[in-house]
Amino acid sequence: MGADEKILDLRARTERVRAGGGEKAIEKQKAIGKMTARERIAALLDADSFHEYDTFVQHACTDFGMQGKELPADGVVIGTGTIGGQPVAVFAQDFTVAGGSLGLMHARKITKIMDYALNMRMPLIGINDSGGARIQEGVNALAGYGEIFFRNTMASGVIPQISVILGPCAGGAVYSPALTDFVFVVDNISKMFITGPEVIKTVLGEEISMEELGGARVHCELTGNAHFFAQSEAECFEQIRKLIATIPANNTTPAERTETVEPHTNRYRIGEIVPADPTQPYDVRDVIRSVSDDSDFVEVMELFAGNIVVGFGRIDGRTVGFVANQPLVMAGVLDCDSSDKAARFIRFCDAFNVPIVTIEDLPGYLPGVDQEHAGVIRHGAKLLYAYSEATVPKITVILRKAYGGGYIAMNSRHLQADFVFAWPRAEIAVMGPEGAANVIFRKDILAAENPEEMRQLKIQEYKDKFANPYVAAAKGYVDAVIEPEQTRQCLIHALEVAQRKETILPKKKHGIPPF
Ligand code: HXC
Repeated sequence: MGADEKILDLRARTERVRAGGGEKAIEKQKAIGKMTARERIAALLDADSFHEYDTFVQHACTDFGMQGKELPADGVVIGTGTIGGQPVAVFAQDFTVAGGSLGLMHARKITKIMDYALNMRMPLIGINDSGGARIQEGVNALAGYGEIFFRNTMASGVIPQISVILGPCAGGAVYSPALTDFVFVVDNISKMFITGPEVIKTVLGEEISMEELGGARVHCELTGNAHFFAQSEAECFEQIRKLIATIPANNTTPAERTETVEPHTNRYRIGEIVPADPTQPYDVRDVIRSVSDDSDFVEVMELFAGNIVVGFGRIDGRTVGFVANQPLVMAGVLDCDSSDKAARFIRFCDAFNVPIVTIEDLPGYLPGVDQEHAGVIRHGAKLLYAYSEATVPKITVILRKAYGGGYIAMNSRHLQADFVFAWPRAEIAVMGPEGAANVIFRKDILAAENPEEMRQLKIQEYKDKFANPYVAAAKGYVDAVIEPEQTRQCLIHALEVAQRKETILPKKKHGIPPF
């Protein structure tokens, strides 16, 4: 072959591989709203930025009719490219090729790109669309998963790891996404479960559809296994691009500092968002949007444990992580799920040097047999651990209620918050005035001629004494009582002065968080 022929040969070979599993398989994929692996990568990355590797890798399996069977790219596309100009590493399983099933070489391609991502300190994005372990390859397929899980764990806290579930992700395969930082799912396309409907029917006699068992909504609303919900693949890729633009590329490089854009809201009206009556709800996201640049907020796990809101925004161009009680849902109480959700988010922020801004308004931990038996002690402790261990700048703003264990858990001074601000209507106390009066003045109330009148009197007495920020401010537990409209300026200044913060933790191999 002459030089030109060789180039033509390369092109022909590449074309054959790029055709994936063929027209019929691609049609089947499209019929259910799915893109092909290569289309997905093109839609996700900056135009023409993708460079593919290991295009010609082939499996070496000879069992069960596999000898001589060509599986283009062995069912997975890997490479590097950019998102918003920032380097990322990507793999995308190709369901049109043997159902995207994972054999030894398929796994080697994935682990190769994982190694690139870790060694070159860039985010890793894995698009999962697979029937799981390639059955014909037996233990070699299982070995591949083990190698992936190990690398997910080693890369944890060094580079952001994003999993995108765009088809089935079943059996042990689910544990790679579970080890990553953010899981994206799409309605009616994503399906994640350890054992599918067939096995469940055989073993337990229970009937359930794939969607009801492990669809996108289930994992966003119920299990907490997924962090971002989208209606289409295109929307999902937009969400990923936005997240990548907001978070750091690794644990040593800060997120890019952008131009400051003032919030859209009138900062003089921020105080009006929060009703004076501490029993009245409001949407804490309105408060976040009143302090964040351009009123922008990338919410994480929006559909799970709505009583706490977590996500990323920018203040004065710097990326911060917001953790906020949500009075709109269950009065913003802490419970098992919200503690889990916030603790994981705080650990991500801490690992990637993202300062944490805590917005506090909660009546405490949720009481009840269900919560006690679900392990609220263990789960609640995760939040205390995550805040205590975090060494990034930690700033708290107490808007209204800060009662009991909730006050301590939500990044109090006692867990080494750097700055604690409180609005004038903040109430920092062991419990709400009503509950407190019923306990400590019980005898007075019972003995009174008019018990209800006495109860109201005692509630007021307790309110006058403790339902304010000044007792905590007098002890230095609150650094400054601020007017609501000063909040953004106080945060900007606190972040500015805390940016060179250094904390030396006791020497240890690692702590033992209450996982
Ligand atoms: C080999 C597989 C495969 C697999 C699918 N295919 N899964 N080949 N190993 N695991 C092939 C099919 O034979 C078919 O090939 C093509 O992919 C498309 O599959 P269909 O069944 O036609 O697609 P669909 O109807 O959409 O159903 C998708 C599916 C189903 C629900 C995922 O394929 C399925 O149930 N697959 C098996 C799932 C499974 O049990 N996996 C093992 C899990 S255990 P042809 O040639 O006909 O087009 C596991 C352990 C990991 O993963 C442990 C790690 C610790």
